[in-house]
Parts: sequence; C-alpha cells; structure tokens
Amino acid sequence: MPEAASSIPRHVAVIMDGNGRWAGHRGLPRLKGHEAGAESVQAVMKASRDAGVEIVTLYAFSVENWKRPEDEVSGLMSLLPRMLTKHENLLHENDTRLRAIGRLDQLPSKTLKELHRVMAATAHHTKRQVVLALNYGGRAELTDAVRKIATKVQKEELEPEAITDEVVSAHLYAPDLPDPDLMIRTSGENRLSNFLLWQLSYAEFYFAPELWPDFREEAFNQALDVYAQRKRRFGGVESC
Ligand code: IPE
Ligand code: IPE
Ligand code: MG
Repeated sequence: MPEAASSIPRHVAVIMDGNGRWAGHRGLPRLKGHEAGAESVQAVMKASRDAGVEIVTLYAFSVENWKRPEDEVSGLMSLLPRMLTKHENLLHENDTRLRAIGRLDQLPSKTLKELHRVMAATAHHTKRQVVLALNYGGRAELTDAVRKIATKVQKEELEPEAITDEVVSAHLYAPDLPDPDLMIRTSGENRLSNFLLWQLSYAEFYFAPELWPDFREEAFNQALDVYAQRKRRFGGVESC
C-alpha cells in the first residue's frame, strides 16, 4: 500500500482569515471578531501540541493590512500584546518558543516591546515553536533578502555565481525554520495573500470553509486528517 510521506506535519502555517465576517454576521464591530479569533489561536495551539506538530506559523498581520480603518489597526496592535501577556504561561507550560517574522521595526513600540519581552522569556524553550507573521509580506521578505544578498555582493563577501536556493533561504527572516508542510487558510478564500511565497513551494494546501473564530480543535484535526492522506512527491515519482 502506498504510504503518505509523513502523517503528521512538522510545520503548519495558518492564514487566520474571516474574523471580520464573523463579527459582521453578529452585528458586532470587527475587533470583536479578532478577539474571538484569539480564542481559536489557543485552540489550535492546543490541538497542534496534542497532535505532535512542532512549529505553527500564524499570519497575524500583513504588510497590506495597514490599509484597514485606523481603529481596526490600532485595535489589532493592542490586542496582540494583551494576548501575549495573558497566555505567556501557556508557552512556558508547553515548552514553546515564541518567534516573529516580518518588518517588525515598523510595529508600534508598545506592541514591539511586549513581543520582544515574551520572545526573550521563551527563547530557551525547545520542544515547540509558534511563529507570528506580523507586518509580514512574502514579497517584502524576498525583497529584504535580496537587499542583504546584494550588500554582500557589493562588499565582495559573496560571488553572484555562489547565490543558490540555499543562500536565498539563509537570508529569510527565520532561516533555521523548515518549510511548512501544510498551509491552512480559513474562511473559504482560496489565495495566499502574500504569505510565505518562497517557503510554501511544496506545502500541501488546505482551504477550510470555517471563519477563523469558528475554527477550533475539530476543524484543525480534520485538516491534519486530510494532510495525512496526501501524497507528496516533491517533483519525483511516488515510491510504493
Ligand atoms: C483575518 O480576518 C485577521 C486579519 C487579517 C488580521 P479578517 O479581518 O481579514 O476577516 P475578514 O476576511 O474581513 O472576514
Ligand atoms: C490575510 O488575510 C492576512 C492575515 C490573515 C493576517 P486578508 O484578509 O488580509 O487577505 P485578503 O485581503 O482577503 O487577500
Ligand atoms: Mg480577510
């Protein structure tokens, strides 16, 4: 019988979409949807721990999301540190390191301060990692990598001929992380919206109909079940 490559993804990346619609359906302000979405983060973290997923990357704020109304942006920027403070203990209890990818220096200083505090406080944890994509864009990440590489070439630290896939990967925001095995997007939207463009080259995609605040353990486990049935070939031929 042909075997699925590995039944449990090591790294799951999630586009947490649908908070605004969830709130809209209830006649609530969009920020209430983001608050409800924060509960789904806890649920998915717990389910991923129970399933043995090592790394979870969560798309929390894109470089394009600054286009949103100011009160929504500021609400999101204050929700994040509040959630970090509230749930820091869970990171410690679960031996989980918090990390972040994105153009972090453009985040408001209060948001950044608490983010850095919790990242430092959890830096020694080794069992699991949760990676927040904040002010993140896949194109921005590649652009930043190209700039770093170009600077090295200019300084004659690197030959253009020596630029390989591995060199590009090594200049991304979190170069030590393995590529995601599974990408989940909620809310029925079938697009990447500038998420991890380089790293998702061979990921399995799973589009869930649930809005993010409705996406809890059961829905996450269903995504894992579907993943376990997929056959990954990475351009090769199936071994059986
Ligand atoms: C995702 O939910 C959360 C963020 C982008 C921060 P949305 O806010 O995009 O929700 P919809 O897509 O408008 O329903
Ligand atoms: C992607 O969702 C960004 C996050 C989930 C943080 P969006 O809601 O911003 O994406 P579009 O606008 O529908 O493509
Ligand atoms: Mg959206």
